[in-house]
Amino acid sequence: MKVLSVTSEVFPLVKTGGLADVTGSLPKALEPLGVETTTLLPGYPTVMKQLANPLPLLVFDDLLGERATLLHVQMNGLNLLVLDAPTLYDRPGGPYVDDAGNDHPDNWKRFAALSLAGAEIAAGALPGWQPDLVQTHDWQSALTSVYMREMGLSVPSVLTIHNIAFQGQFSAGLLTALGLRTDLYSTDCLEYFGDISFLKGGLQMADAITTVSPTYAREILTPRFGMGMDGVLNERVSVLRGIVNGIDLDIWDPATDPHLPSTYTSSSLRRKRENRAVLTERFGIDGNDDGPIFSAVSRLTWQKGMDMLAETADEVIWSGGKVIVFGRGDPAIERQLLEVASRHPGRMAVHIGYDEPTAHLIHGGSDAIVQPSRFEPCGLTQLYALRYGCVPVVSRTGGLSETIIDANDAAMSARVATGFQFHPVTTDGLRMALRRAIQAYENPKQWARLQNQGMKAKFSWERSAQQYAAVYASLTKKSANAPADGGRRMAF
Ligand code: ADP
Ligand code: GLC
Repeated sequence: MKVLSVTSEVFPLVKTGGLADVTGSLPKALEPLGVETTTLLPGYPTVMKQLANPLPLLVFDDLLGERATLLHVQMNGLNLLVLDAPTLYDRPGGPYVDDAGNDHPDNWKRFAALSLAGAEIAAGALPGWQPDLVQTHDWQSALTSVYMREMGLSVPSVLTIHNIAFQGQFSAGLLTALGLRTDLYSTDCLEYFGDISFLKGGLQMADAITTVSPTYAREILTPRFGMGMDGVLNERVSVLRGIVNGIDLDIWDPATDPHLPSTYTSSSLRRKRENRAVLTERFGIDGNDDGPIFSAVSRLTWQKGMDMLAETADEVIWSGGKVIVFGRGDPAIERQLLEVASRHPGRMAVHIGYDEPTAHLIHGGSDAIVQPSRFEPCGLTQLYALRYGCVPVVSRTGGLSETIIDANDAAMSARVATGFQFHPVTTDGLRMALRRAIQAYENPKQWARLQNQGMKAKFSWERSAQQYAAVYASLTKKSANAPADGGRRMAF
């Protein structure tokens, strides 16, 4: 089966979060199951720089008014189609924001063009290659299903929700510029609280909807977690399912990780100490005593509960622990964390930044990873933590609730506990969980057991890839039996 995956990020070419990890690793896990994935992504400058001998396949003279070339390249085990459209993507800043952190003002066009290119490819724009199914991710590629429906394609599409908080909400006045009929401004398609939402359009038009954990699939049906989309999702619940993310076991492997000064396995966990020494030096933390290092590698946002970490860090330090925070995000939360760190020189360090080697080193050298998210569709950091013998301290929400087993008495005596969970998700809840973790750390045998149990936990893609393949198979069988419905070709 041939699948076209349309995405705004893919590791290792461009990454702002877990979406890239998933789109970069799922194709490799699907391959042994007979699913060949081709990934379409925008040609941001960082992507263009990394392409070796790209092959131009096709020119779009007028993709929503812009000129674009489709390039083909194979790298890192991925089969890539890069949409090179300089007027849309060749600019400073990240995939979504400029250097000052503001959204690019034409994001609507940048991601609609990506989606439209995806739909054109699904329609057969590439001579000799047409996908059997299109996989889209989040709002940035959700419009693909809308364009496909408008073209009358019978190729099925799947929309995976990685985070429903981001919805691609824009003015309804843009419909014509998007090349879409103005009557798609309706509650059963794009209309969303007086605007249009790319995500909503995708939720209405995709043949199947998945999200990245079964718990989050249930949560987003409620007003609290659905963030305005719970109504649509309840209508479409029969095609919604949760499939938990896996991790790339080759990239996140403490036994072979090139970013670690000292590699290790569960039987040589003592070697984490060498990583700890490098880590403490790098972050200016006093590494001479044995106090536990609690780290966070995260977007520094309200979603991730990083304000709650700032409010509890004092107590961790007074109890003999250390705190390392690495990430970037909301300036107010960055400031709050930096202010706490300034009161604890040598015991707490906050570095504002984002880079892959440092993220690996932190997992390799820390004792615990703190992830007190207010909502978390899946979360990958806690899975990396498990594999690296770091004990996760997490809130009980979304994917965190089903990937970490709380170290309560029953789970400890059954030898299945892997971390500490707290609920309700409040600062006091986090404080209690941190206290429990500090107490457990004081008993080296108990701590080692937690580390070992975590390292044994299985979060490869194998099972989840089978679930994606099953969704794909059910849709392609259906579409093989159904005649194409009479839509219209796009004029653009
Ligand atoms: P989200 O996608 O919501 O940010 P996930 O836990 O799914 O959360 O994925 C986060 C990804 O981003 C992980 O791969 C994590 O290692 C990475 N990450 C987060 N912060 C940083 C950072 N400061 N530097 C490098 N990688 C980071
Ligand atoms: C999103 C979610 C995160 C998830 C990731 C990959 O960014 O916030 O929980 O792990 O996507 O699916």
